[in-house]
Amino acid sequence: MREQWARYIALLTGVLVLLLAMIFALIQNPSKPPASMVGGVGNKQSPIMTSPQVDVKKQALIATGRSVFETQGCMLCHSIAGKGNPRSPLDGVGGRYSAEAIRQWILAPVELKNKLPARAFQAKQTYRHLPVEELDALVAYLKNLKKEY
Ligand code: HEC
Repeated sequence: MREQWARYIALLTGVLVLLLAMIFALIQNPSKPPASMVGGVGNKQSPIMTSPQVDVKKQALIATGRSVFETQGCMLCHSIAGKGNPRSPLDGVGGRYSAEAIRQWILAPVELKNKLPARAFQAKQTYRHLPVEELDALVAYLKNLKKEY
């Protein structure tokens, strides 16, 4: 009689341990990862240039460039997407010029003297005083303008 009880208890303990293990396993390993983790951005093997981090940095640079453009009087003579002076639109300028050429058009070195009206040439000389980070951001912003209107 005693033996049977002992077996009973041993069996019960075994079942209990098994149950606890199963519950524990369920809690620790949710059966399905959230959809965002399957084939999401994080799982793609992205080359360095398009990694989200680089993108974020580039977008920040472009945003800074846009505000430099808007605060430096560029729109007195130029327009982008219909905003500003329509006489000299800069839409799609990023597709037409290299970043270096864009920089030159902003700073107007003497080589550009004949290609610019005197007033524009004069106005552009003041951009030489822009901090280099602002100039870089401005160039990045314009280089990113690929769309023609
Ligand atoms: C006083 C007027 C004036 C101001 C201010 C001015 N520009 Fe210009 N810019 C011109 C003129 C005129 C040209 C000659 C080409 C044209 O008409 O598009 C030109 C040309 C350019 C070009 C080459 C465009 C092309 O399609 O050939 C770029 C890029 C440019 N400017 C950027 C800027 C930026 C950025 C600013 C502000 C930081 C600025 N400009 C401020 C008058 C101005």
